[in-house]
Amino acid sequence: MTFKILIADPISEEGLHVLRTTPTIHFEVATDLTPDVLGEQIVDFDALLVRSQTQVTRELISKAANLKIIGRAGVGVDNIDLDAATEHGIIVVNAPNGNTNSAAEHTMAMIMALSRKIPQAYYALKNHQWDRKKYVGVELKNKTLGVIGLGRIGTEVASRAKGQRMNIMAYDPFLTEEKADKMGIRYGSVQDVLKEADFITVHTPLLKETKHLINAEAFELMKPGVQIINCARGGIIDEEALYEAIVSKKVAGAAMDVFEEEPFLDHKLLTLPEVIATPHLGGSTIEAQESVAVDVSEDVIRFFSGDLVRNP
Ligand code: NAD
Ligand code: MLT
Repeated sequence: MTFKILIADPISEEGLHVLRTTPTIHFEVATDLTPDVLGEQIVDFDALLVRSQTQVTRELISKAANLKIIGRAGVGVDNIDLDAATEHGIIVVNAPNGNTNSAAEHTMAMIMALSRKIPQAYYALKNHQWDRKKYVGVELKNKTLGVIGLGRIGTEVASRAKGQRMNIMAYDPFLTEEKADKMGIRYGSVQDVLKEADFITVHTPLLKETKHLINAEAFELMKPGVQIINCARGGIIDEEALYEAIVSKKVAGAAMDVFEEEPFLDHKLLTLPEVIATPHLGGSTIEAQESVAVDVSEDVIRFFSGDLVRNP
């Protein structure tokens, strides 16, 4: 028996190789399909592989009469309607570990670029401006990094930031004071973190509870001059409130990799010199892309062989 997989977002060649060398699998790569075209094609497939671009909506799932498994080459499954998948008996697997290191490294790169205004200074220099006064930064040493969401990536970021001699204060519903002590960090409530941190980085999933977790009231609680980093998910930070907080000088800078709507091209946040941004690159390294593609492909094969999926 042959199982048909539709790959709707680009995944790395290593993941395709795993599928290609499995005799029971036939796959087709068809990226950038409109929702209508994807809806027409999906009916022929047993599995669907996506990254974050394809929206696997209830409507799409209702058209997928033969679909048994959806694989997400990456962590966040917020582009997949999990309730609809469950109602249709479709399994959803992701690759939760494959890009942890890359996302943590990207977050550190953003914190360092933000604190030293590197993108702004680079852009000015490219435009023939040699301005050493305008781009004076702040040190990270002895500053408090507030980490909201101390899961896989938040933990890696905290450990790297300690290497920069930062003090770490974190909030996570699963963090206890005892565990924080063992990690050499301070435990606090969300409010504590908001009030005390010089830099705040969010690493939660986007859930009902975390949507606009950083909103106008949260900005009110923060120290003047605080800097904000979001390399997790668009929507955790209320972008309108962030804009106002920067314009009012409460927030000195923000580094954003993810946005409420992607692609993020014409938003007024991008007009502010205090904002640095990357186009959702947290997991975009050769290593992470190989890893998530192989992990999710192997899990789909495992599923069709009748083995337990691992969500490695
Ligand atoms: P994880 O599941 O390991 O950690 C998430 C943590 O958030 C958990 O410890 C959880 O307890 C905590 N959490 C949940 N609700 C919370 C709340 N209300 N307040 C505080 N903490 C809360 O996930 P991860 O692998 O560390 O990924 C974190 C985020 O990064 C996800 O949103 C993921 O999609 C995103 N991500 C982005 C990129 C990128 O390209 N920018 C790459 C990888 C992952
Ligand atoms: C993820 O959730 O894994 C990230 O957003 C990275 C990605 O999908 O490229």
